[in-house]
Amino acid sequence: MKNIVVTGGAGFIGSNFIRYLLKINNDVKVYNLDILTYAGHLESLEGLDTGRYEFVRGDINDRNFLEKLFFEKQIDTVVHFAAESHVDRSIQDPGQFVQTNILGTYNLLETARQYWAKNLANMPKRFHHVSTDEVFGMLNHGDAAFHEKTPYAPNSPYAASKASSDHLVRSYFHTFKMPVTISNCSNNYGPYQFPEKLIPLMILNAVKGLHLPVYGDGQQIRDWLYVEDHCQAIYMILTSGVIGETYNVGGNNQPPNIDIVKMICKILDEKLPSSPYIPHEKLIHFVQDRPGHDFRYDIDISKIRRELGWIPTHELEQGLIKTVEWYLSNSNWLNSVTGTDSFQDWISINYSKR
Ligand code: NAD
Ligand code: TYD
Repeated sequence: MKNIVVTGGAGFIGSNFIRYLLKINNDVKVYNLDILTYAGHLESLEGLDTGRYEFVRGDINDRNFLEKLFFEKQIDTVVHFAAESHVDRSIQDPGQFVQTNILGTYNLLETARQYWAKNLANMPKRFHHVSTDEVFGMLNHGDAAFHEKTPYAPNSPYAASKASSDHLVRSYFHTFKMPVTISNCSNNYGPYQFPEKLIPLMILNAVKGLHLPVYGDGQQIRDWLYVEDHCQAIYMILTSGVIGETYNVGGNNQPPNIDIVKMICKILDEKLPSSPYIPHEKLIHFVQDRPGHDFRYDIDISKIRRELGWIPTHELEQGLIKTVEWYLSNSNWLNSVTGTDSFQDWISINYSKR
């Protein structure tokens, strides 16, 4: 692994991964390929060592651009994060998810396949595809956790587009012997997450004294993983994972959404003792549910633990405290990514009629 392209590196997990990679490995050159949609922010990459890191603005659907990049930079490793990632937006506009998540993955795979067929003949190469536990559908109370062989049953356009991209990646291993790996991870949280997702939105709104919109009865369950633990899992798969294999990654905890929101409120009560909004729990509002809202996810991480020795290192409460502290001390980042018309438009599209 020498010349790595990280797609979607200006997004939440991609930017955390680039920071992690540059910290843990001194020998790689990292190219951050990102088109900078509403979810991509160069502010999330400020202060990086520019000798080993370069931002390249471009579209994973632009084949000419991709071919030139692979050729000029002699790309031997792809870590593919770029995607439309928000379920609520996939309900508003599924087409963009098909375009980016399915066709974009196809174009990236095809570029890598053709470039590697002619170049870097005896060098190690890798295409790592970052995916989600949402491809497995949903669980009820008492159902066994998702494992790597659980049949796919995606329920949202987001999940369906990711499932489709997983199948494409898998097929490139079986058909073309491309050196691929796939990870299916549960919900991430931590620094640099765009506040359209549950945890940063609740922090943002609570600090401002705005309603905390909890969908339905708030009893839905996600498995939460601190983002740095996810980055470590991806790095371990890149360095020790078996080609052609899939690894499930998760945080080993499943509190209902309402408990997450209440934990955030309690942390803010302690961190902001002179806030006029204490107790922040008073701001919680139950709002109309998300259509097709998956009830529960739970992910079995025994394979990655057994084969690669990975386990999550953050307890949920510790990770949430770190996350709240990060948002409180990074108001410049927060103001910059939320101070746009597009963010305000999204809040009004998604929440005004609930
Ligand atoms: P994000 O929405 O924060 O970032 C996505 C990034 O992709 C943005 O920087 C965006 O500009 C870029 N992008 C979008 N379309 C592009 C295109 N056509 N060309 C180049 N770049 C493009 O997403 P995230 O939360 O960081 O998720 C990253 C990946 O991890 C996604 O594939 C997602 O499915 C997966 N994942 C996310 C979670 C989670 O909890 N966030 C959990 C499991 C898996
Ligand atoms: P989200 O962060 O959008 O991730 P995902 O849909 O990929 O799991 O949502 C996490 C959970 O929080 C999900 O059950 C939906 C719920 N939720 C709310 O209750 N209110 C909100 O405003 C948002 C964005 C999510």
